[in-house]
Amino acid sequence: MPRTLKEQLPWTQSPIIANAPMGGFAGGALAAAVTAAGGLGQIGAVVDMGELERELTLAQKSLPRSKSNGDTSNNNTISCSSTTLPIGVGLLTFILKLESVLPLLQRFQPSVIWLFAASELNDYTTWTRSLHAALPHSSIWIQVGSASAALTVARGDASDASTQPDALVLQGSDAGGHGFEHSASIVSLVPETLDLLAAHGLSALPVLAAGGIADARGAAAAFALGAAGVVLGTRFLAARETIVPHEAYRDAVLSAKDGSTSTVRSKVFDNVKGPNIWPGEYDGRSLVTRSYTDFVDGVDIGVVRERHADAAKRADAGFADTTDGEAKSSGNGAGRRANVWAGASVGLVNELQDAGDVVREVRKGVDEALKAARARL
Ligand SMILES: Cc1cc2nc3c(=O)[nH]c(=O)nc-3n(C[C@H](O)[C@H](O)[C@H](O)COP(=O)(O)O)c2cc1C
Repeated sequence: MPRTLKEQLPWTQSPIIANAPMGGFAGGALAAAVTAAGGLGQIGAVVDMGELERELTLAQKSLPRSKSNGDTSNNNTISCSSTTLPIGVGLLTFILKLESVLPLLQRFQPSVIWLFAASELNDYTTWTRSLHAALPHSSIWIQVGSASAALTVARGDASDASTQPDALVLQGSDAGGHGFEHSASIVSLVPETLDLLAAHGLSALPVLAAGGIADARGAAAAFALGAAGVVLGTRFLAARETIVPHEAYRDAVLSAKDGSTSTVRSKVFDNVKGPNIWPGEYDGRSLVTRSYTDFVDGVDIGVVRERHADAAKRADAGFADTTDGEAKSSGNGAGRRANVWAGASVGLVNELQDAGDVVREVRKGVDEALKAARARL
């Protein structure tokens, strides 16, 4: 019988809110701040294990832990199992080897290990079995993007319970960053998946929703759809603790409006620096860039890459939507060329905030949003 999210994350306050483990963006400072505010803070790993070690060390140092059951008025003292670090670590399984990350996971013992982007769904079975064996106190969560994938992953290898995850994250099409080329929004994805899991005797498996949730109203909607927890990525791009490649990146997120038109899903975002290495079913959502519009207009990908490389040398690293003369005179065309990964909710992200304030604001607002909804019925 899978444990509830609250059993897996005993320090969290209800409703459960997590930051997405955004590789290169979500580091130890963000994870610690989100956890300290009663959420699940997560670090996103890519391939540099030295960097992951530094971010895990930072999170560990920033989170004084108490073994006793908690004084929730003290946001800096987290009560949880003495064996796990109360954060999650996100791993992209298609580019990582389990043996290269395992020593760090065993040393830091994160409460959650989040898996995403397997080359094949079967890979999760192997990863989950090995991780459960090596880290019996950690929960394994897997992010998927369809009801059928959710069922396959939830079942694991039916003859071996250790291959089954402790929770699923359902990522809808509004999500920022990498996701599924064929996808639906969480509005249908969550309830259909819950029905399918229930039909196969898997209704006890906790399910979180991700994609397009940027405030309490979105979170309340996800809980109404049946989610047991919510994951926010794009909203945390505007958190002070989040690492951004350049301030122009954050400015672009803060100033973007109307995600329906200002963001788009495409595989071309993974082609602008060189050939796409992501498994075939993935694409990504970014702000619309000149690289994207050039490609759609039929500009050869080699030229798109050259222009992208030129723009990356600019002072704003290609993130700003500038009309500076240098870019024009180089024939490069002015404007944003570098990817600004962000979700369809980007128009709701308007303020630079402390991550803890984001968690508290969303948590407090869920109840109000549900009451307001009830009042309109
Ligand atoms: C900038 C950015 C980077 C991301 N990087 C990762 C990653 O490294 N691993 C991962 O599992 N998901 C990653 N994601 C996707 C998130 O896990 C999550 O599905 C998404 O942020 C949820 O949608 P939202 O952005 O609308 O909140 C990323 C998302 C963003 C916006």
